[in-house]
Amino acid sequence: MSRKVVDDQTTGPLWQFSAARREWLGQGIRLAGAAWAAGMLPPGMLGSFSVLAQGLPQGSDRLIVRSAKFLDLETPVNLLNSWITPTNLFFVRDHLALPNSPGPEWRLNITGEVEKPLSLSLAELRHMESTTLTNTLECAGNGRAFYRPRAAGIQWERGAVGNARFTGPRLVDLLKHAGLKATAKHVAFDGFDDPPGKVPDFIRSIPIEKAVDDDTLVALEMNGGPLRLEHGYPARAIVPGWIGSASVKWLSEIKVLNHEFEGNFMNPGYRLPNSPLKPGQPVDPKDTHPATALRVKSTITRPGDGTLSKGRSIEVTGIAWAGENQIEQVDVSDNGGKTWSPAKLGSERATYSWRLWSFNWTPPSEGDFVILSKATDNKGNAQPEIPDWNPSGYLWNGMGRARVRVEA
Ligand code: MTE
Repeated sequence: MSRKVVDDQTTGPLWQFSAARREWLGQGIRLAGAAWAAGMLPPGMLGSFSVLAQGLPQGSDRLIVRSAKFLDLETPVNLLNSWITPTNLFFVRDHLALPNSPGPEWRLNITGEVEKPLSLSLAELRHMESTTLTNTLECAGNGRAFYRPRAAGIQWERGAVGNARFTGPRLVDLLKHAGLKATAKHVAFDGFDDPPGKVPDFIRSIPIEKAVDDDTLVALEMNGGPLRLEHGYPARAIVPGWIGSASVKWLSEIKVLNHEFEGNFMNPGYRLPNSPLKPGQPVDPKDTHPATALRVKSTITRPGDGTLSKGRSIEVTGIAWAGENQIEQVDVSDNGGKTWSPAKLGSERATYSWRLWSFNWTPPSEGDFVILSKATDNKGNAQPEIPDWNPSGYLWNGMGRARVRVEA
């Protein structure tokens, strides 16, 4: 049965599959919850059912569950249609089990290459001067599902991205209070999401230049309210314009180092080959560098794949972002990229934030169309149709795409 794309805001067959899977998981959550409550799950099984046993965060049941082991939730692209992504619709990416919410004893420790180590309570952080900035947070693995050959890891499609307002003290102010030593070269963030057994802890570092940038925050709020637990309550790093993994959640320690942190999530995790590889070609780990800024990218939020009646025009809409750069232009094609027409960019903008865009499309005839979107940034970087492959499937930024059948 065909669907009308204009009337139906879902995103087509992939989304239908995801909805079915979500329904299945929803049942799993209810069953596992009941079994857990009745004491029927053996203790060893509870970890692997952690998401199912805990349930989804409040109001987040429209998100796609990408992993049932830890909380990994993707936003269906048709819900990414506003400049600010509502917090309950914002994707979630956890490498480890969601920690318990800490009590009043929680403190943020600033240690390492500093003159005067600090230990600050939430009340003390809230009393500091705070800054608000709007940041597009995108997981480095967003779009991994489209790489061929497939890369191992969560098979995110296009919705491991969101745009939100983050508020909190500047990291540089905290570092100034602690007094940076001349040996300070990198700043490592550690969260209190503790790994079981020999599983490596999620600790990541950023170079000192980015750490002392006025826009790097220790965020206490998201979209005007306290951070929700799944987004890092009570405090998370916001490293604007960089891959989401730099923005460590549930901060417990900020450690200033004289070298880049060497743990699993810095190496081999989150690294890119120094030169392009053929798809499937192995990489020498020594010939890699850490992934940092996000790439120029656009995504179509409407229409999804589906069918449209001839003679009707539709508003093709989408989002476009470029990490630390600015979106200059978004172009749309309905003929596989032979010709392009400029889309209209939305008026809402901020340095690290996506732009909304729209394009009024009247199908020229009946038939099958692939609508493509291509973003270009202020440094002249344009979105490729097929990005260079890398073994971990990071930073996929292929063009936005929707398949539409136009019928009489
Ligand atoms: N911080 C901690 N402590 N543990 C994590 O697993 N995941 C990172 C980052 N910060 C992670 C973390 C990754 S990979 C991403 S993409 C972002 O958090 C996702 O942030 P969100 O869940 O608020 O969307």
